[in-house]
Amino acid sequence: MNNKVDFLVIGSGMAGLIYALKVAPYGSVCILSKINMDETATSYAQGGIAAVMYDPDNYEKHIQDTINAGAGLNKEHIVRIAINESTERIKELAEWGTQFDKESTGKYSLAKEGGHSEFRILHHKDNTGNEIQRALSKKVRNHPNISVLENHLAIDLITQHHLGKLVKRKDKDITCYGAYALNKNSGKIITLLAKTTMLASGGIGNIYQTTTNPTLSTGDGVAMAYRAKAQIDNLEFVQFHPTSLYNPGEKPSFLITEAMRGAGAELVTKKGEPFMHKYDSRGSLAPRDVVARAIDNELKISGDEFVFLDTGRISKSEIINHFPTIYAKCLSIGIDITKDMIPVVPAAHYACGGIITNENGQTSIHNLFAAGEVANTGLHGANRLASNSLLESAVFSHRAAIKASELVSNIKYETGIPDWNDEGTVLNEEMILITQSKKELQSIMSNYVGIVRSNLRLKRALDRLNIIYEETEDLFDKSIVSEPICELRNMINVAHLVIRLAMKRKESIGLHCNIDYPILK
Ligand code: FAD
Ligand code: SIN
Repeated sequence: MNNKVDFLVIGSGMAGLIYALKVAPYGSVCILSKINMDETATSYAQGGIAAVMYDPDNYEKHIQDTINAGAGLNKEHIVRIAINESTERIKELAEWGTQFDKESTGKYSLAKEGGHSEFRILHHKDNTGNEIQRALSKKVRNHPNISVLENHLAIDLITQHHLGKLVKRKDKDITCYGAYALNKNSGKIITLLAKTTMLASGGIGNIYQTTTNPTLSTGDGVAMAYRAKAQIDNLEFVQFHPTSLYNPGEKPSFLITEAMRGAGAELVTKKGEPFMHKYDSRGSLAPRDVVARAIDNELKISGDEFVFLDTGRISKSEIINHFPTIYAKCLSIGIDITKDMIPVVPAAHYACGGIITNENGQTSIHNLFAAGEVANTGLHGANRLASNSLLESAVFSHRAAIKASELVSNIKYETGIPDWNDEGTVLNEEMILITQSKKELQSIMSNYVGIVRSNLRLKRALDRLNIIYEETEDLFDKSIVSEPICELRNMINVAHLVIRLAMKRKESIGLHCNIDYPILK
């Protein structure tokens, strides 16, 4: 494997793969995937991808729904770009082989989810992400310019810092020269020099005890970019999905798609009483921040461990045909959703913030791009509208690819980059130090930095986290690099950012609810 590459891509989910396919005509591409290529959050996506397709929907309605859900903190020009380009990106995904479900008329079948004023969610039954991943992976594997390094964990981005220069966050000339990566099979660390680097490493859900995210979502991209002194923001807006299956001990939590509520399912208490109308006139189809908070409140009042999703208004044939994955999963634990209600609880689901990027996926670091969940484009504001994440990945990885392809011919490989320095490190033989700190971190985040926060809880979280931070940095410096220690370090960095940004925000808005500040509508 050549350690020099024109385009380095960290991540093989939707954002990374689309970007790779689009830059491949302009040079060599290497994709890093820390597990296997298809184990991504993208593959878990259920409900679908939001886009404007037919009347009576139009771009303006989708734009307004996105801004309403985001409580107006969205960057409007970014919202307009994402939505105005949505139809084009869907056509391309379909041309590339993604099979979105269609009606007998030949038109795409469109579903509805919380906060949407129209039916506009394109889907492939209830496993849309898996279908998108399948189609993109197939194209990538057949591309002669793209190599994929599976089981390779990016550890850190390479910048002037590695040439011995002091780099400060406010510096304007920080430049990315590639990344160090751990080959998990051999244990060796390779230096990957790149003209351009794309971070498409997904989300952060595992900083919480309960999450819908796969185990790989440990915030590596945000943490690496932060250590490289990139600009990060909006991480206080962590989205909790209202309806994950209540099945204690299961990791990740299994999602019950919002499209079920779009098809008529209703949230009710354990006693079978609907409650969402008390919180929002849109009832069970209010945006996620509202629904998750309402469930949280109902559980606190009742002392119950879950609420129910009542699917009684959805016909048996629609359940079996549109939601086959959920039907089979629930049946496997003894719940027949054509007859029984589904026990559900909120779970950490999505990071609305991340590495700040412009409309072309460029970060504050030269030659470093970011796209997908790791990026903070400004599309989501204080709360993401359902199914706008896959859309964001499609639109901004496409735009980043155009920009990187324009720039690449004028970039030279950096010389003099040293190999990873592991002098003085030893094998850490006490995994308990890592597993216990991870549990503590997740407990701190879930108990003090969850759906509802307070100044006191945030302060306590920061104090507790600082102890684990010091211990982990010390352990990292002394240990031979391994995936568990890297992930723990990254999760601590990200949790730190979530807490500090939450402390900085002196208001309750969107997904950030602090009882010391009144909720703004
Ligand atoms: P991912 O798909 O998560 O891919 C991340 C990639 O980065 C992986 O290949 C991983 O191996 C790699 N990686 C990470 N760290 C490293 C590292 N250090 N070194 C090397 N590689 C690394 N959104 C919607 O719009 N609609 C939906 O219906 C929907 N449903 C969802 C259902 C579930 C259960 C979940 C969890 C999310 C859902 N989302 C949905 C959100 C959406 O799936 C994700 O936000 C989106 O797929 C993220 O894509 P991505 O390409 O940014 O990252
Ligand atoms: C879902 O299917 O409910 C998830 C959709 C999303 O996260 O946008």
